[in-house]
Formats: sequence, structure tokens, C-alpha cells
Amino acid sequence: MAYKALYREFRPRRFADLKGQDAIASVLQSQVKSGEVSHAYLFSGPRGTGKTSTAKILACALNCLNPQDGEPCLECENCKQALQDSMIDIVEMDAASNNSVDNARDIRDKVKLLPAKGKYKVYIIDEVHMLSDSAFNALLKTLEEPPGHVVFILATTELNALPKTVLSRCQRFDFRHIDERAMVKRMREVLDAISKTADEEALLEIAGAAEGGLRDALTILDKCCSLAEHITLDTVSEVLNFADQSLVTGFLQALGDYDEKTALVSLSQMLDSGTEPDVLVSQILDTIRQMLYIAVTGDSRSETLQQLAGHWGKKNIVRALDILAAAQNKMKYAARPQILLETAVMRLLLPESETDVGALELRIEKLEKKLALAALQGPGSAPAAAPAPIENPAGKPKKRPAEVKEAAPGADSADLEALWDKIKKAGSAEPAVKPFLHELVLAKQEGMRLFLTSQNASKLRMLKQSSFKGELERIAGEILGGSVVFEFVFPEEEQQRMQLYDRENIDIID
Ligand SMILES: Nc1ncnc2c1ncn2[C@@H]1O[C@H](COP(=O)(O)OP(=O)(O)OP(=O)(O)O)[C@@H](O)[C@H]1O
Ligand SMILES: [Mg+2]
Ligand SMILES: [Zn+2]
Repeated sequence: MAYKALYREFRPRRFADLKGQDAIASVLQSQVKSGEVSHAYLFSGPRGTGKTSTAKILACALNCLNPQDGEPCLECENCKQALQDSMIDIVEMDAASNNSVDNARDIRDKVKLLPAKGKYKVYIIDEVHMLSDSAFNALLKTLEEPPGHVVFILATTELNALPKTVLSRCQRFDFRHIDERAMVKRMREVLDAISKTADEEALLEIAGAAEGGLRDALTILDKCCSLAEHITLDTVSEVLNFADQSLVTGFLQALGDYDEKTALVSLSQMLDSGTEPDVLVSQILDTIRQMLYIAVTGDSRSETLQQLAGHWGKKNIVRALDILAAAQNKMKYAARPQILLETAVMRLLLPESETDVGALELRIEKLEKKLALAALQGPGSAPAAAPAPIENPAGKPKKRPAEVKEAAPGADSADLEALWDKIKKAGSAEPAVKPFLHELVLAKQEGMRLFLTSQNASKLRMLKQSSFKGELERIAGEILGGSVVFEFVFPEEEQQRMQLYDRENIDIID
């Protein structure tokens, strides 16, 4: 026997088989039962959610010789023919390929004929938004006053593309995305029928990837079945070509640390391993969604994700979901979706490239995180202006070491900012200094010693050895009225690198 795709083999045949569309199923079933049938239905909603299946069930139930409580019996001659798509009184038409006015006129002429074997002549017009304008007009006349034995069932994924005149003549049912639980239930039924098994988390993963469409879910399940008798998360990952989840969490860790290099390297590693950008972005979004859930509910199902959620904080999580979901949308239509993904990741890494208030707060937080981490790395390596981090990976506020607090008597962040503004203002009049000021931050003051920092380590290194330092000391000296010394505070990854490769050279502060 020829192989039939799972989703076709397991097309629901009774209202009770429909998943996730309970309200629609029960209204239609009771209409069949009471005989209060509308002459025109419109089923709208996303792909693969059961519109065509429901139309077929309704048509079958309306013509069943022995309906049971509004359900088709599936045994009578009419039901049997309907199941084989050969029932003479059920006419299925795909408007995508029969969209001309002639097709519509053909219907108009034929509706006058009485049904041959059943009670109703049922016309199922799928993808009805594809009809041409003239075909719609011809059809409208029929829809206005159809003979009592005719039922139209129109189905579409694009409600907005239908003329209002059509909408107003139909009883409308909006099909929804099918929730994950309902999809898992249907997948279990299918697996039982074919004697295969699966882990719950694997089915949930499929349901998530199918984004509310049961046809897509069954198609993925079908591929998994051809790989394994028992389906696990690994089977699903293989079919969907997911990136290794540990790479994804590593990537999110780097993103949360604003570690640009590691984040971008691991992103390209995942893409190079063959994961498609659209698959990767939904895998990343999925993981961040789980982090949000954990951050909000305190659920502790995964230690790694719990740690990540604490490190990121809710605000960052929501911002990431926002930016990545927008990128995901655009990626669907992009010639090179990878670029959109990379750009979105860079936006997350560089809140300084944005101007809204939220991003501004994050710029401060980013700086706080960097400086606070530096503060924990050793006496004097922390600029006093750095407030404690909002959260550490365990979610508890960290205390800064005592020596850091004492290091800068009298200089709070507002004072520092004001002083730095003055120095920058004076510095902008000096061509040798001006171009280098904007990425620098005054992090701490100890009397006449001023500590500068920047996210850009190579720039710091360059400035430290150039005439810039002397020039800036002169300018600051004039403002503070004495001889000023500038020290350079390197970002913490840079400090680690220096510690690793050049132990003699640890001259960060003091
Ligand atoms: N609500 C549902 N309950 C059970 N199975 C469903 C449901 N929706 C979809 N399916 C499965 O997906 C297959 C396709 O569904 P169907 O053709 O009814 O979707 P549709 O909404 O008409 O999609 P499209 O808009 O792409 O035409 C069915 O054969 C069935 O296996
Ligand atoms: Mg359909
Ligand atoms: Zn029957």
C-alpha cells in the first residue's frame, strides 16, 4: 500500500476527534442534531488548524443516513463514500485552482439540482480568498438566496482578503491556534494507533515548533517516526536540526555578560553547524521564554536556566524577547536571515547603540555589571562609582568589598559625572584629545588620581600609551588646580586575559 502521510491518514473524522476547537465543534454538532443548519459557513484561521477537516466532518454529518447525536455514523453508505471523497452530494472545490467566474457560474447553475443521495448538497470551497472578483460576484448571488437543500462551507486563511459582502452572508467560525497540550494529546493518539512511543518533552518540543498548527506537528512527528521507534528530545532535535542546547545556553550566558566576542563566536558556531537561522532564532526564543517563566514563577526545573534567569533579570529577558521576536518576523521574508539575527544579537549586546529610555537604563546596568565584577576581582580594581550589581547569578544582591567603599571618599557618581563633563568640555577644544573622549567613562576619583574606563579595551590600551594621557592630565589639572594622574581601568575580561597571558603586566590600578 502506498505510504500516506500521518496527517492525512489521521484526519479527524468526527467532531469529537477535533482538537483545540471545542467550541466550534460543539456548536456545529448541535446544529446538525437540531437540524438548524445555516446555508453558508465561513471557516477562517491559521494553516493546519482543522478548517478543511471540520468542513468535511460537517458535510459528512449532514448527509449521514444514521447520525448519532449530531456526529456522522461513519458506517452508512453515505459516510463511507464521504470518507473516500466520492460522495456525490459533497462537492469540494479548491478556489486556488478554480477561481474563475465560470467555476462560480457552474456552481450557481448546479445548486438548483436536488441532492442525489443525502439531505443536502454541500459545497466546500477551500482557499476562498483566491476567487477572482467576478467569481465572488457570481457566487454572491447564490449565497444570497440558496435553495434550502444547499450548504456552502467556505474556508480561508486570509479573512481580510474577503469582500465584506461575503462575510455578512456567512455564519463565521474563527479557528484558533491549537494549544500545546491539545496537540500533544493528538500526537499521543496517533502514536498509539501506530504502536510507537515518545517522551513527553519530545512531544512538547514538536508542539512548540509547530506553532499552533497540528498539520505541521504531525509532519514533524512523521519524520521522527521514520528515525525511531521511541521518540526522544534528541530525535526531535535531529529532525528539526536544532543547535546543541548547551551551545545555546553558553551563548545566552555570554549575551547576559555583554561578552560580545564569545556571544558572536558561539552564534556563528551554531550557524556553521548547519542549524538554519530561523530554527536557531526560535530555539533561542524558546529558551529565553523558559527563562522568563522561571524568573516569574520561581520554577526550578533547570538549574542552568534558573541561573541564567537570575543573571539576566526580567527586564533584560523581556527586551531580548522583544528584539528577537521582531527579528524572527522579518527573517521570514529576508533573503539573508542570518544578518537579521546577527543584528538583533548586536542590539542586545550594545544597548548604547539605542536611544530609548529602556536601553539607557540597560547601558547603565551594563556598566554597573562590568564595574561591579571588576570590583570583586581584587583590592583597588573597582571604581568606587560603581554601584552594586542589581543581581548576581544566584539572584541575591552582592555586597561590594569594604576597601572599595573606602577608596573614594567624597566622590559619588554625580560628582564624578559632573567632573568628567567638565573635563570633556575642556578636552573637546583640543584636537589631540577630542576624538577619543566619547567612549570613556570616569569611574573613580582618589584625590588627584582619576580612573578612566571603557568597554573598548584595545582603545584603552592605545590611549594609555599615547600622548592623549599627558594631554588629558594637563587639562584635568587645570580644572582641579594641581597635578593630576590618570589611571586606566580595563574591562574585566581584559583583566582576565592579561592575568592569563602576561602576569608581569597587571598594572590595572595601584
Ligand atoms: N483541530 C484539529 N484536530 C485534529 N487534527 C487536526 C486539527 N487541525 C489539523 N489537524 C491535522 O492536520 C491535518 C490538516 O488539517 P486541515 O486540512 O483540516 O487544516 P486546515 O485548517 O484546513 O489547513 P489549511 O489552512 O492549510 O488548509 C488534518 O488531516 C489533521 O491530521
Ligand atoms: Mg484547508
Ligand atoms: Zn453515516
